[in-house]
Formats: sequence, C-alpha cells, structure tokens
Amino acid sequence: MTRENIDSILQEDRQFSPTAEFTTAARIKNMGDLEALKRQAEQDHEGFWANLARQEISWQSPFETILNSDNAPHFSWFEDGMLNVSYNCLDRHLDAKSGKTAIIFEGEKGDVCTLTYAELHREVCRFGNALRANGIEKGDRAVIYMPMIPEAVIAMQACARIGAIHSVVFGGFSAESLKDRIEDAGAKLLITADGGFRGGKIVELKQAADKALDRGCPTVEKSIVFKRTAHDVSWTEGRDVWWHDAIAGQSSSCDPVWVGSEQPLFLLYTSGSTGKPKGIQHSSAGYLLNTITTMKWVFDIHDDDIFWCTADVGWVTGHSYVAYGPLAVGATVVMYEGAPTVPDAGRFWALCERHGVTIFYTAPTAIRALMKCGEEIPSKYDLSSLRLLGTVGEPINPEAWMWYHRIIGQERCPIVDTWWQTETGAHMIAPVPGAVVTKPGSCTLPLPGIDAGVVDEQGNDITEPDKGGYLVIKKPWPSMLRTIWGDDQRYVDTYWSKFDGKYYLAGDSARRDKDGYFWIMGRIDDVLNVSGHRLGTMEVESALVANEKVAEAAVVGHPDPIKGEGIFAFVVLKGERPTGGIDEALTAALRNWVGEQIGPIAKPDDIRYADNLPKTRSGKIMRRLLRAIASGEEITQDTSTLENEDILKQLRGET
Ligand code: WTA
Repeated sequence: MTRENIDSILQEDRQFSPTAEFTTAARIKNMGDLEALKRQAEQDHEGFWANLARQEISWQSPFETILNSDNAPHFSWFEDGMLNVSYNCLDRHLDAKSGKTAIIFEGEKGDVCTLTYAELHREVCRFGNALRANGIEKGDRAVIYMPMIPEAVIAMQACARIGAIHSVVFGGFSAESLKDRIEDAGAKLLITADGGFRGGKIVELKQAADKALDRGCPTVEKSIVFKRTAHDVSWTEGRDVWWHDAIAGQSSSCDPVWVGSEQPLFLLYTSGSTGKPKGIQHSSAGYLLNTITTMKWVFDIHDDDIFWCTADVGWVTGHSYVAYGPLAVGATVVMYEGAPTVPDAGRFWALCERHGVTIFYTAPTAIRALMKCGEEIPSKYDLSSLRLLGTVGEPINPEAWMWYHRIIGQERCPIVDTWWQTETGAHMIAPVPGAVVTKPGSCTLPLPGIDAGVVDEQGNDITEPDKGGYLVIKKPWPSMLRTIWGDDQRYVDTYWSKFDGKYYLAGDSARRDKDGYFWIMGRIDDVLNVSGHRLGTMEVESALVANEKVAEAAVVGHPDPIKGEGIFAFVVLKGERPTGGIDEALTAALRNWVGEQIGPIAKPDDIRYADNLPKTRSGKIMRRLLRAIASGEEITQDTSTLENEDILKQLRGET
C-alpha cells in the first residue's frame, strides 16, 4: 500500500523534564553527554559499535572484523569473534554477584520464589546437560511453549549455553499455530509444561502441545514437560520426558559452547502482511550487545534496581528485557505468571509494592485497561520505589501517558516510550531518561548509533516538520535481524526492496516534529496491532476461509479504546447469507474457530456477512472502504465501480 500523504492529526505540546534527583543519579545526565555519544557514532559508526562490543561483551576470543557488508542486505557483526550468550548472562557475574537475586518470581496465586545468580546458573547448567542427554546439539532447534515461569528463562538460557537455537511460542497460541511454527523451524525438541496458571484457570499447554505433535511435526523427537500444575495430562511414552526426570542426576556444571558471533541465538515468529508468520532470526553477539546498551541507556539500570518488564517471553520484549538484557547486565528481574486483573486490577501495583520494583515496563494496552478501573486502585499501594516507567508495543495516547505519569509515576518518574520491533532486537528510538525531555505520545529520538529517518515514496528525507512518511533505518546495527528462517527472499523483499537495498523498511509510518522528535503513526502494511500484539490480517483471513462454511473473508482493524485496534471481519458464506446479515450462533462459532486456529487474541470482535466483498476492477479487496465501515465512518471513496451497490448496505449491516 502506498500513502503519498500520511497526514498527522495528533498535536501534543506538553513537555516533561526528568527531576534533578533522577538526573543526578543517571548514567547519562544531560543532552551534552548524549549528543557526544551520538556524534561519536556518526563520525565512526563501526568504531563506535566495536568499542562497545569490546567493553560490554566477555569474549572467548576477540573479533577483528567489525561489520561485514559484502552480502548486503545481509550484514554480519564481529563475525570472527567467539562468545557464549549464557556465559555473558550468568558465569561472568558469579565472582561478584553469586548471591544476588537474579529472578523474583510470583505466581498468580501469590506463590513467590527467587533464584540467585548462582542458583540460576546451576539450573541452567543442569538443564543444558539434560538437553544434551536428549540429543540436542549446537544448531538444533528447540521450541519452547511454556507459561511465564523461571523455567522458561532457564530453557532459553540452556539452549544458548549449548549453542542450540530456541524458538519460543507464546503460550496463548493454539495447537495449530504451535504446529506451524514447530514445522517451519524444523524443531527436534519441544519444551513445554503440563499447564500454566492464568486468569484463575489452568492453561492447557500440554493438551495443545499433544495436538500439535499428533497432527504433524515429524522432526520432533522428544518433548520435555515441566510439572507446573500437576493436574492429569496425557503422556506419550518414549516421546515425553518430565523436566524433573531429565535434570535428575545432571551435573551442575555445563561448559558453554563457544559460538561465532553470527550463530543464530533464536528464531521468533512474528506476523507480516502476507502469508505465514516469519521466523525472525537473530544473532548471538550483535543481539546481546544491543540488549545490554539499551538496558544501560534507556533503562538506566543500576545495581540495586528491581526491574520488571511485564511482557511474556513469547514476545520479543520478553526475550530482550526478561530473558537476556537484564541478566547480561547482572540485574534483578521480576517475572509474574498470571493476569493483571487477578484478584483485581491492583495486581501490578501490588507486585511493585511487594517486590520494591524500581523500573516498570509495560504496554499501553495494559495501562489503558488499568486506567479504566480508576485511580483509587493504584492509590492503595505504595509505589514510592518506582523511579522509571516504560512503554512498548504501540503508540501510547497522551491521555494514557498522562495517567501513567501522574498516578503511577507520581510525577516523579520519567517515562521511556520505546519504539522497536521483533526485527530490530532492541530499542531503536527511545528517550535516554536522564537527558531527554519527553513529550506524551512520542518515542522521542533515535539512540546513539541508530540512524533512523522518515522518508517519502522515493526515499528522500522528509524535512518538513510533522509530515508523515516511511520510518526507515539507514545504517545496519548490531541487533538487526539476520534473515527470515527458511525464506531469505522474503527477508530481502520485506525489509530491503522498497528502497533498493539502501534502507531498512520498518513497515511503520512516522513523522518528526520541529524538534526532530519521532511520532509513530501506525503500520503501513496490513498488520494489526491488537493489545500490542502483531497479527497479520492475512492470517486471520486464512483462518476464516479454512472454515467449511466460509467462501471469502476480509479482515480490517478498527479503533478500540483498550486494545488499540480491534478485529473486524467481513465474511461471504458458501451458503445463504443470514437474514439481516446477522447470525449470532455462526459468529460465535467462527470466533471460536479463529481462536482455535491462531489463538484467542485473534478472535474477531465482530463479523458482518455479505453476498460479496467490495473489490476494485483488478480484483483487490477495497480495504480502505472496509476500514471506514468497520470504524463507522462515512465512505468518501469512489464506489461507482462496485458491481453491486447493495452490498455496501449489507456490509454496513443495514439489510
Ligand atoms: C509497534 C514489539 C509506537 C510498531 C517490540 C512496530 C510501537 C511494532 C512502539 C513491532 C512504540 C512498538 N510506539 N509503536 N513505542 N513499539 N510499536 O514486533 O508498529 O511485536 O512496528 O515488537 O509495534 O511489534 P513487535
């Protein structure tokens, strides 16, 4: 889709400076220091990253080559260096911090457990040995489908330790989605749990895992199952192994496998505009480096911080800011398994109080949902330990930003609105909180060494303030994705073809204001952002048409006050259109069907039935028209080419 004129409607003039107290203690205390860093990067992009890589990573053998662009748009960073990511997250802290808490875990029922760095190291080693004993070696893929418990992080770290490549699948995805991802990754092992606890219920992970493995996944040899809920689950002898049996008798030391910088650390599937989800492939050294630099620059991490990122490890945020970044800098990280509303909407704030959280990072959708429950709830808790707040996943509306600032941050905590993507591995555009003045709704300025821009259709910089365009990154950066697993051409086409290999295309539109601040305006492709989760419209459409009653389907997003975007589906049935375009039973059945095919987050909020879908002469579905209908807006488009004007009425639900 092209948009020559992406106009902005949002005007926001409020500005917020960090308090003197925050700035005094901050790692980067003023714009002068931040700009000096940015200048260094501008003057010597490679030297800048090489210095940081030498400082921040413990190498088994150092690198000589910094950036290799010979096969652009395939880039490699520090390629002749050798390291181990798990060593960098655990072993190197043991001398100074073996007794420091690495993970504070709280379950939904209030069960709390902590792991010190020494304990976490021991568990990762034991599980690493268990992986080996189950035939997993360097380069093998292991899919992790687990609740938000420390063992999920242990499994990821153990894979990294032995050079295996993990691919975490969010526990909210269905058996069908799990199967697709396992098959695409060619995984040899599935690591799961008997279940998880969420929303007062048991999430039946093992049941879904069994379904996935029974329906396909020929490459999977073993499945290691952690006992979390201890309720009855079915068992396949020879394939299923209990976690506790797998680690029984395993040594608590496990030599890390030294790998080259470019060794894939993980694959993570994410939605694109067409076709199946993309297995975003990340490297070891480059990825690690940017998780570390952003922990320091953006989260201003200090040794005594209690850091809580609420994201599930099934998303990239849970990779970079739960499983890797915080551990790589030797921080204490909080994990919570349950829902934010159990027993009530004060749960997040209760956790902050109980564990003395100092840095809190969540999604705008969660803020909006909790905001709706009223100010009285957070006011019951002592939030004085908080010193920094963050958001990620979608643009935050200024109203939610102000609530977060006033009620949670008590006007004391800077807010870091961090723009990044699964593909970028780490924050790209975000405030450095001790230096940058923030504006509600803006992710502010690119980080040092990140050359972000907004360009027009031809790739020229847009210099006019507040004029929208394509968000691009102009120079390679260490934690960039390396390719799409098994589909390198799609990597080239999706991210590099628009501007002839010159710029990385993020797929978002953005504008810069008169101060050069970035304001993200949304996606330019057919990707929805539902509660901060990326979903391709195509994925939902494919799921719908896979149902025997459905002939054709089109899916669009419509604004939703809590979720950001909701899903609206237009469906043409193989049989008769229901009278009046309404069939509640069928709608419920189709919603469940999509839930089974993809996962509950993909269920359409509403379905309209029509005899046809509106198409252009070339046969393309007129999505803009459908979007207008879904949002209840007036149709301004030319509809004269529509064969059957009547269907407009049908789509609007008028007949
Ligand atoms: C959106 C999540 C506005 C954006 C880390 C991006 C944001 C997509 C922000 C990536 C933000 C993420 N402001 N929009 N601070 N952060 N996005 O891959 O559209 O799940 O392209 O990575 O989320 O989503 P993903």
